[in-house]
Amino acid sequence: MKLIITSHNLGLWAASYVQHRVQATHKKPFVLGLPTGGTVVDMYAALSALVKNGKLSFHDIVTFNMDEYVGLSPEHDQSYHYYMKHNLFDHVDALPEHIHILNGQASDLHAECENYEKAIVNAGGIDLFLGGVGRNGHLAFNEPGSAFTSHTRVMKLTDSTRQANSRFFNNDVSQVPTQALTVGIGTVLDAKELLFLANGEAKAQAVARLAEGEISEQWPITALKTHPHATLLIDDAAASALAPAILQQIREARAKQPQQDIVITL
Ligand code: GLP
Repeated sequence: MKLIITSHNLGLWAASYVQHRVQATHKKPFVLGLPTGGTVVDMYAALSALVKNGKLSFHDIVTFNMDEYVGLSPEHDQSYHYYMKHNLFDHVDALPEHIHILNGQASDLHAECENYEKAIVNAGGIDLFLGGVGRNGHLAFNEPGSAFTSHTRVMKLTDSTRQANSRFFNNDVSQVPTQALTVGIGTVLDAKELLFLANGEAKAQAVARLAEGEISEQWPITALKTHPHATLLIDDAAASALAPAILQQIREARAKQPQQDIVITL
């Protein structure tokens, strides 16, 4: 896999990558896996701007979101339905029947998850899965210990994830749902290509684990290393806990060409 350290805005970088992949692939529909979270807000703003300026269309893009909290209605301002509507779908020309987001209020959550997997298969699989990273290295809502073969299912959220996400719930952890529906690590790994984003010091530990640690289900982020076409795009702060030799390499590269991305093969 590739680790890319960029001094550019991660969201702009990722949006222009999506544009390039969609337009270069000529596949209709193009199937995109989508994340939520603070990290990717800029990416959605940039994708919306590309559509507004006529440089990208979602008409032939089918989307599958990664996850959703159990028990929140789509109108709840912290539901991922709400997030996606306000950050992306209100601003682009996606067809409603092309948008898939897990229903955290389904009466049968297990059937909801099974049907989601079937819908992904029926769409021909995911061409490009975009994602963020949790502080504890989780992908989507796959908490540490999730099998790399796992598929869409109900997940009990760890205290650390609920604590981290409480910033979106008036800093009141008791308001953060205790469960979520999430695609599995296996669902993510089944995608043809992965582009994950991590920024800020809060993600530095998880990034260092990926770069230097063993591949382990205790660190879901390390699953990226098992994929033949995966990229993790990070900023300098998220790179800050990497080994001194790599940090030195970054400093030297930056001194020579400050704007150039640094690509490390892991
Ligand atoms: C949540 C989401 C993840 C996301 C993570 C990081 O837990 N389920 O998909 O990657 O948050 O979010 P942020 O980008 O806000 O740090």
